[in-house]
Amino acid sequence: MNSDWSIDSWREFTVKHQPTYSDIGALKSVEEKLKSLPPLVFAGEARTLKEKLANVSEGKAFLLQGGDCAESFAEFNADNLRDTFRLILQMAAVLTYGASLPIIKVGRLAGQFAKPRSEPIENREGSKLPSYLGDIINGIEFTKEQREPDPERMIKAYSQAASSLNLLRAFASGGYADLHEVHRWNLEFLEGSTQANKYRMIADRIGECLDFMKACGINKNTAGLISKVDFFTSHEALLLGYEQSLTRIDSLTGKYYDCSSHMLWIGERTRSLNEAHVEFIRGIGNPIGVKIGPTTSSEDIIKLINKLNPENEAGKLTLISRMGKDKIGDVLPSLVRKVDSEGMKVVWSCDPMHGNTFKAQTGYKTRAFDNIMNEVVQFFQIHRSEGTYAGGIHLEMTGQDVTECVGGDQEIKEENLGDRYNTHCDPRLNANQGLELAFKLSEELSKHR
Ligand code: PEP
Ligand code: CO
Repeated sequence: MNSDWSIDSWREFTVKHQPTYSDIGALKSVEEKLKSLPPLVFAGEARTLKEKLANVSEGKAFLLQGGDCAESFAEFNADNLRDTFRLILQMAAVLTYGASLPIIKVGRLAGQFAKPRSEPIENREGSKLPSYLGDIINGIEFTKEQREPDPERMIKAYSQAASSLNLLRAFASGGYADLHEVHRWNLEFLEGSTQANKYRMIADRIGECLDFMKACGINKNTAGLISKVDFFTSHEALLLGYEQSLTRIDSLTGKYYDCSSHMLWIGERTRSLNEAHVEFIRGIGNPIGVKIGPTTSSEDIIKLINKLNPENEAGKLTLISRMGKDKIGDVLPSLVRKVDSEGMKVVWSCDPMHGNTFKAQTGYKTRAFDNIMNEVVQFFQIHRSEGTYAGGIHLEMTGQDVTECVGGDQEIKEENLGDRYNTHCDPRLNANQGLELAFKLSEELSKHR
């Protein structure tokens, strides 16, 4: 099918949002080094995720994808990773319980390092430097040295992704994610909050179910999935030299897989039909995603789907709608209708973050919990009225108690944003806001069924 595709055919196309490295020799030698390093994931795991996403596209499961906007070298430690992982487990427990659906858990983790930026140059009071493009490319500090793209950072990103994956795999199968631990996933700093109390009630019910199942002879030894969880990783395939270097031929199928992550997506700014990112991603065997913003036309979407999923395989392609609460109602219904009328098999997921960003009076980039929820609710309503399936959610969130998005039942105000504003790029939901969203989402999901 892809006889005209090769691992580097993208290099013949216009490519956006790539850094300019001053030392091409150093770049080439880093890429050669990466090619010699072990893959981070196995192609069979990517196929397993694709099968699970096929169930989502058929309305039999729900996709929960979330994590950092940009992972950083500085914030990398076991506690941060564990806290985001357990928030995902908690949210999944709430959703499974409320909607009686399997939840497919995919982190924006272990590789989410490169960022497209609206301005290539940052201007701070008249002094100008290249923008920060993510830790895999340059440093966030506003100095000439730090902002210079450094290819060696790719090796550091690879190694951080490898340690993150190692820990995530250990959490997922080493006992931490055992359903019997459902009470312990509550984050300490949430103790006593409304969300924690609501969560405890669900955890109690799950505990009772486990006791009942045990009495019936179903336990960890007879049903492995009680003690283990399937957890997958994903990131934006933005820095194409890095992605190419980790793309390998799978010995079982003879197909290319990008082994930097289980799932890869391309962003709103790099999804042009005849450009490099679409060219690269169409050739890999992984399940893939594409962000769909408010300027997307029905014609664009059909061409994109034909190019990215020419064989109309279920689970291959996730369309991540990121319209913003004011535009989704005008734009999404006709897109959904068109895709449905063409019989195209896709997962529809909602990213309620990227179309709802604004600048607070205090200068911080933020998002309001109510606006995020508003887009999510409209997303569900649209699918209900079109008779299609709202299959997933894509969130920027962290298990930490940050103050980056306003609102939620903690009532974070614009003047509180400076307290713990730690993100390296866009504002994330904190643990309390993530859990609150999961409870509200679970009500939407139950209506859907
Ligand atoms: C992102 O997911 O961080 C991002 C940049 O999104 P988008 O491509 O939708 O703007
Ligand atoms: Co973002």
